[in-house]
Amino acid sequence: MDYASLLFLFSCTLIDMQGISALFVTDISVPEIVDFRDNVTLSCSYDMSGHTLNSVKWYKDRLEFFRYSPLMRPVYMTFPVAGIQVLDGKYFCNESTCRVDLSLLGAKSTGTYMCEVSGDAPHFKLAAKEDNMTVAALPQSDPLIEGFNSMYRLEEFLSATCSSDYSSVPTKLTWYINGEQPMLGELQPFIDTTIPAHDYILRRQRLQVHFYLQGHRFYQVSKILELKCVAEIENYPELRRETTLSASLSHSDNLNNQMLRHPGASSAAADCRCCSWPRTSCLICSLFVIILLTQCAQRPS
Ligand SMILES: *[C@@H]1O[C@H](CO)[C@@H](O)[C@H](O)[C@H]1NC(C)=O
Ligand SMILES: *[C@@H]1O[C@H](CO)[C@@H](O)[C@H](O)[C@H]1NC(C)=O
Ligand SMILES: *[C@@H]1O[C@H](CO)[C@@H](O)[C@H](O)[C@H]1NC(C)=O
Repeated sequence: MDYASLLFLFSCTLIDMQGISALFVTDISVPEIVDFRDNVTLSCSYDMSGHTLNSVKWYKDRLEFFRYSPLMRPVYMTFPVAGIQVLDGKYFCNESTCRVDLSLLGAKSTGTYMCEVSGDAPHFKLAAKEDNMTVAALPQSDPLIEGFNSMYRLEEFLSATCSSDYSSVPTKLTWYINGEQPMLGELQPFIDTTIPAHDYILRRQRLQVHFYLQGHRFYQVSKILELKCVAEIENYPELRRETTLSASLSHSDNLNNQMLRHPGASSAAADCRCCSWPRTSCLICSLFVIILLTQCAQRPS
């Protein structure tokens, strides 16, 4: 073998090696979790440098459901595969990217979705990427708070229930009272309600919170009571939903308030902010104000 042919062979090998490394799928976009009522868009991008694109194929669990072959007629083809339906005309592919829209058919749409790109003759190089998609029945509404009023008085007992929307994935409910989580003893979970629907077992969770409107949580804050219920799905923070309701919070003893508003008692009221005090101190204080008021009334002005 002479020097020239050796060089030629070497160049060929180099080109071939470049060919091996040049074709690859750069990105695949498959939603991690979706609701079965939604349509989804799958897409993949590839780098063909040096190759002519022969075909792009989409598979679900190794079964081909879509093909783009720009050098053939028809350019686009779809194949029936259980669990998916390619939406009519809702696809687009070219030399660098391929996108296809699907409507889903429930739990059986869950699976591994793969995009496979092939180069043209003589190499017919292949490159692929895959990703999993879970098709679930996701909550369609924010959690529901029941039993909550728009007005409360300090010392009053409050009991409210939060319910998550029906869902095939477990939901975790968390209450917040003026931004703070309640104590364990203030919570009462109920047995989940389940219903079979759309090939799923749908579950609704309920969590009650009950407490007296007393203690530091309420004496420090102003006249607003805010109750928030958060519904979260494990591993999917983007699916978090929440509901916040607020009520006005007034002093526990209205009669006492009226007395404090009496003009003669204004100085006594200033000295004695009864209702920001714990219960017993408040009682003593109220008595003191009453005595003071009686004294004021008896005194000639
Ligand atoms: C899904 O796409 C079809 C066809 O374009 C449309 O009729 C349907 O309303 C879409 N569904 C949703 C949930 O967007
Ligand atoms: C392919 O289509 C995408 C999206 O429409 C576009 O951004 C891109 O430039 C196109 N690539 C080529 C090679 O035509
Ligand atoms: C997809 O799910 C299968 C089975 O649960 C798992 O073995 C595989 O690693 C997953 N693939 C990806 C890309 O997450």
